[in-house]
Amino acid sequence: MASGFWLGVFLLLSTWLKLKCLETPNGVFDMACRDRYLKIAIALSFTGDDPHFEAVDDQGVHPITERYAAECGYSIDTFPLPGHIEFRASYFSCHAYNQDDQVFHFKFNLVTTTDKGQVVRYDIDKTCSPSLPWSPKEVTCETNYMEASVRSDMTCPSGTNNGDWNTSLTTAYLSAISDWQVMFQGKGELAPMTLTEAREQGYVFDVTDGRLIFRTPYGQPHSFTTMVGGVTMEVVHPTAFSRQNWIVVLVDLVAACSIDEGYYDGSNLVWETPEVPSPLVFGLSSLENQQINVGVNGQLLKQPVAEERGYHVVMHNGAIRISIPYNAEGTYRKSFVTDNQYQEFFVFHLYFEQLLVDENSVETRLRIYRPIATPLLSHPVLAVNRTVIEERVFTVYLGNFPEDVVLVAVKLNGHDFAVPLVNDSAYTISRVPQANATHGYTLTVPFDDPVVSMELFNNGILQFTLNINYTLTVLPEDEPYCHLTSVVAQITAVFPPAFQAICSEQGIRFKLDHQPFDYLWEIYIGRDPLTPELAAQLGYMMQNDSETLLLDVPVFSPGYIYEEIGLKAFFATFEILIKHRRTLTVHGSAVKTCQFPTTELIVCSHDGKMTAVADVSLAMPDGVLSRTSLLDPNCGPKDTDYSKALFSCQLNTCGTRVKLGKGHIVYENEIVVSRKLPAASRNDTDKVTLQCVYRLSGLHRLFSMHKFVSDMPGVGSIIHSKHSVQSQQTTLPPTTKHTTTEPTATSQKPTIKRPVFQSAAHYVKVFDVLKDLSDTLSWQTRKRSDTSQQTRKRSV
Ligand SMILES: *[C@@H]1O[C@H](CO)[C@@H](O)[C@H](O)[C@H]1NC(C)=O
Ligand SMILES: *[C@@H]1O[C@H](CO)[C@@H](O)[C@H](O)[C@H]1NC(C)=O
Ligand SMILES: *[C@@H]1O[C@H](CO)[C@@H](O)[C@H](O)[C@H]1NC(C)=O
Ligand SMILES: *[C@@H]1O[C@H](CO)[C@@H](O)[C@H](O)[C@H]1NC(C)=O
Ligand SMILES: *[C@@H]1O[C@H](CO)[C@@H](O)[C@H](O)[C@H]1NC(C)=O
Ligand SMILES: *[C@@H]1O[C@H](CO)[C@@H](O)[C@H](O)[C@H]1NC(C)=O
Ligand SMILES: *[C@@H]1O[C@H](CO)[C@@H](O)[C@H](O)[C@H]1NC(C)=O
Repeated sequence: MASGFWLGVFLLLSTWLKLKCLETPNGVFDMACRDRYLKIAIALSFTGDDPHFEAVDDQGVHPITERYAAECGYSIDTFPLPGHIEFRASYFSCHAYNQDDQVFHFKFNLVTTTDKGQVVRYDIDKTCSPSLPWSPKEVTCETNYMEASVRSDMTCPSGTNNGDWNTSLTTAYLSAISDWQVMFQGKGELAPMTLTEAREQGYVFDVTDGRLIFRTPYGQPHSFTTMVGGVTMEVVHPTAFSRQNWIVVLVDLVAACSIDEGYYDGSNLVWETPEVPSPLVFGLSSLENQQINVGVNGQLLKQPVAEERGYHVVMHNGAIRISIPYNAEGTYRKSFVTDNQYQEFFVFHLYFEQLLVDENSVETRLRIYRPIATPLLSHPVLAVNRTVIEERVFTVYLGNFPEDVVLVAVKLNGHDFAVPLVNDSAYTISRVPQANATHGYTLTVPFDDPVVSMELFNNGILQFTLNINYTLTVLPEDEPYCHLTSVVAQITAVFPPAFQAICSEQGIRFKLDHQPFDYLWEIYIGRDPLTPELAAQLGYMMQNDSETLLLDVPVFSPGYIYEEIGLKAFFATFEILIKHRRTLTVHGSAVKTCQFPTTELIVCSHDGKMTAVADVSLAMPDGVLSRTSLLDPNCGPKDTDYSKALFSCQLNTCGTRVKLGKGHIVYENEIVVSRKLPAASRNDTDKVTLQCVYRLSGLHRLFSMHKFVSDMPGVGSIIHSKHSVQSQQTTLPPTTKHTTTEPTATSQKPTIKRPVFQSAAHYVKVFDVLKDLSDTLSWQTRKRSDTSQQTRKRSV
């Protein structure tokens, strides 16, 4: 390119009319006079959805559209974080009132729309007196325009000229008239146009007290790009001219900016600009003549500060390469969510100054305001399991999030909870701030909370599992993002409660020392869970405190099974079941069999067998007990001693009589003394009656399958009808009228009202109505299969 030819220039264009000053606007606006522009920052919360600006001067009000801003020297950037709009106005912007290039007065309207759709205007009024003196040539590369200004009193330095300039000069000389015209160099044909025509195409030429100004948006028809030092520059090179008689006045104005977009190298944002931006300066003698400053957000930093912040400036093959750490101070970052991927990017608003002195000692000041962004970077989310098994609480830390990410909800094993949690919740979520402006969240959930899933393995391992689905949201867009994590904790040696059992004279005593995880199980007697109420109802003695459970089960109380019944002794077995509290499957049992001495006893079994040991000494004072029998004389005693006889028979044999009652069925037999014995050895008036009463509802199989199986044992009674002592042993509690235990000391009659027996019992037909009787004794219905896997202990 050619050397510059700077001619003295007269004041050619009208200057701005002076504007009257307005009051300073209110404090919402953060305004600062920078070296080369006025900055106004306004909180997004204040501006509402669609703010825009108007420039105000004596001519009127000028709405600042995107295009108008680029032509007239205004730039508007939105910063979602920290949430403000930044408006920059060049000191040479179209509607600034300029006083000797020293004092600049701005007047704007901020136009916002309220929630109710009302349009509100706020006055903004600011005066700036920049302390930095103007260099002879200045070039500003803003985000949306290039601006060049030169001192208007600069004389034309002697020097070489190039073809372009020769052509301009020739064209100017031939076509110039007294009106100013402009030609754009560099792109083929040089058709001159008037300043009005140029303005229509978006170019602004202006004159202040001491300077000539040229401004152009990027990407104009007359702009061209050129590679300088390996960097692409956009150049617009107008020459304005006018002929006054034989003198041609030419003004050469060049705006050229590096349009490098920069890149991210994994840790730094890198941007380049030519070492010698040759379109702007001609004949630069040496590189020592230049000075470089770097800063951020429109402010330059002193070199030590820049170095401390990790900025690197190196010369590289004719380019100045600037590297800024992606998270350097002053970087803006923003979180994003795409396809449930949490990402973020960083933007650094680089501010760059290059001072160049050419061979004619003309100083050029180049200032560049350039945002450089990283691509979307995925942000690792870290879930840390901080569970301490001994505390029996899940503790999970999730982090680290920047400020624009907040936790709004958690799903614990599929159950939703909004954050913050309600106060009385068993869980807690606390926000943990970190020193570097990030934060995390600590969630705690107790192991034994219902929301935690729990699994017990046969080897005694108790496993707790918590699946956590965190919902985070990115502000201000409120874009949700889910993070899933799972924590598991295992506790070993967790076994079902183990009872110790001992035989006592009165029954069996069960003892349990409570263990921490006993709450996982429930103690069952038959079909019913053991509670103090059930124990009281069944006649058990229960003592329970925080350490030990004691359960005394007297013999003959409900729940026993009797076996090996003999004249001297019999065996009674009692069983406690341990069931899993949630699944109700049997996890264990405590079974104890004890031997008890026989006095009198009758057992009416599930399978329809009546077994009785009865004292027949009164009925047969001197007789031989082996001569007794049931109603059927063929059914003699299985065993006898001096006073007692043991009888055992199926209910449908041995002359047993049967009677249907309301909801029950009564089987009855008698112990009779052989008529063949001499009368002296008999006492006919004394009678021993054996009775078994079964509930009909438990006997459905008797009627459907013609087979005696009762869901529960029968209630047995031995009735000595002539004796004051009615001995009665039952295998069921006295819950039916037939088994009253009241002694009938004064009565000679049997305690039971004698049913009318029709015949010896075989099978009985019943009416349906009888089968529907409710089963109030459900607890008795024990199935053999429940206990099939258990070991049976027997102690005597
Ligand atoms: C300048 O232009 C004139 C007329 O077109 C031409 O004669 C002359 O050679 C040119 N000079 C240079 C240095 O190109
Ligand atoms: C929860 O408890 C804290 C302190 O005890 C109290 O300041 C807060 O208002 C409570 N929040 C709710 C929602 O009850
Ligand atoms: C912030 O600090 C935390 C805790 O010291 C650290 O784990 C995390 O990586 C830091 N994050 C950044 C972006 O420096
Ligand atoms: C996590 O929770 C979100 C919000 O409730 C839901 O859309 C998403 O499907 C959940 N993810 C899983 C894997 O359950
Ligand atoms: C979490 O921490 C607990 C306790 O330290 C540990 O037992 C468990 O294996 C850890 N891991 C997971 C995935 O839960
Ligand atoms: C016995 O007491 C313990 C602790 O007080 C309690 O957890 C348990 O449920 C009680 N057991 C029964 C059968 O009442
Ligand atoms: C039969 O027993 C009754 C009552 O115990 C008694 O009064 C009566 O004398 C006895 N009869 C004989 C023959 O022993």
